[in-house]
Amino acid sequence: MKILVIGGGGREHALVWKIAQSPLVTKLYCAPGNPGTAALAENLPIAVDQLDKLLAFAYENRIDLTVVGPEQPLSLGIVDLFEAHGLKVFGPSQNAAFIEGSKAFSKDLMKKYNVPTAAYGVFTDQAEAEEFITRTGAPIVVKADGLAAGKGVIIAQTCEEAVSAVRDMLSGNAFGSAGSRVVIEEFLTGEEASFLVITDGKKVIPLASAQDHKAVFDGDQGPNTGGMGAYSPAPVVTQAIHDKAMKQVIRPTVDGMAAEGRLYRGVLYAGLMVKDGEVKTLEFNARFGDPECQPLLMRMKSDIVPVLLAVADGDLGELALEWHDKAAVCVVMASEGYPGDYRKGDVITGLDLAAKLDDLYVFHAGTTAKDDTCVVNGGRVLGVTALGTTVKDAITLAYQGVKRISWPGVQYRSDIGKKALERSESV
Ligand code: AMP
Ligand code: GLY
Repeated sequence: MKILVIGGGGREHALVWKIAQSPLVTKLYCAPGNPGTAALAENLPIAVDQLDKLLAFAYENRIDLTVVGPEQPLSLGIVDLFEAHGLKVFGPSQNAAFIEGSKAFSKDLMKKYNVPTAAYGVFTDQAEAEEFITRTGAPIVVKADGLAAGKGVIIAQTCEEAVSAVRDMLSGNAFGSAGSRVVIEEFLTGEEASFLVITDGKKVIPLASAQDHKAVFDGDQGPNTGGMGAYSPAPVVTQAIHDKAMKQVIRPTVDGMAAEGRLYRGVLYAGLMVKDGEVKTLEFNARFGDPECQPLLMRMKSDIVPVLLAVADGDLGELALEWHDKAAVCVVMASEGYPGDYRKGDVITGLDLAAKLDDLYVFHAGTTAKDDTCVVNGGRVLGVTALGTTVKDAITLAYQGVKRISWPGVQYRSDIGKKALERSESV
């Protein structure tokens, strides 16, 4: 069968890498892809928001299955558009992807269906927001309602900081129309986990547990990013926490979305805060996490294609997923300045040396080909991902890979996976 993957980041390189291993695949395309996907699929020069061009390509080339990576085309309604033309596509419809597209919607949904989450308010008015901030006290969290590439969340240490974050958002200066409404919520403490499932709207297959590293610097310092590294499994997700997440978060959300007339099919990603054996939901995403997707797919033993196809067909049947016992760790190498304005165009060296390491794979994100070289072209540039018998082994190998690769101004965290080691010496 012919498959098209939409997107061009590390997540999509990982999806292409995994899908390419399926014996069901005869031809694989990626739009727009990156130099990493180019080695495994045919890249198409179509951007993720050019829905009409994507549709025309899929239609004319009789693509059997389209797999949507990022949130933007989902929010623009790519799934509805493809299905209206009889094309199979993996991902939630526009009204289901709203669970990520609007934080106010997702908070209201959680409240309605008793999904544990932080206390919150939704505001379009500065004075009302300020009143809520004063009443709640700091630290307090201010979130732009709409999509903001993982950057629309401000953890304010003081009420003044929160008030000014709200002002920046409501005035449209910070995140454009995504910030014209804000969610303000109670600051939660604990340890985060990324809990992803694949669902057909009824049946749910949980993926292996994972943990992201959102802050740009070691020790979770500095501003939040799209994610500076991830590993799987995450020991913070014990069997008891897994069961709670399924029962209290995933099940009521999947059922609640169906009850709201927003049948949810695709990957549902719950960002969890775990504390004292309890879970609270920080957010929902309508897609695979990036970089969580990289370690998760390296650990996935089963062929992913039958599962993606079954979801597109609307029935998972009896399908299940098997996982390798090994742990996987992904260290993101980013460009200088990220998550602010970053430097582009530097030549990346050492990719060939890293490729010599067994059980290690370098997923491309913000790279582009120039002449015979690969150059920096984004904030998150590469995801160096390694398998190991333990998390510790996987960390060691991933950093061996990282040390072989270089460019001027490269930055990465040196503590990816450390929380797993702190929880248990035996993981
Ligand atoms: P979100 O996009 O809503 O997941 O927020 C991005 C990141 O901000 C999360 O992964 C957390 O690190 C942090 N965050 C969001 N909401 C809260 C909260 N209520 N309390 C503490 N940290 C939060
Ligand atoms: N790594 C966090 C996200 O994909 O939203």
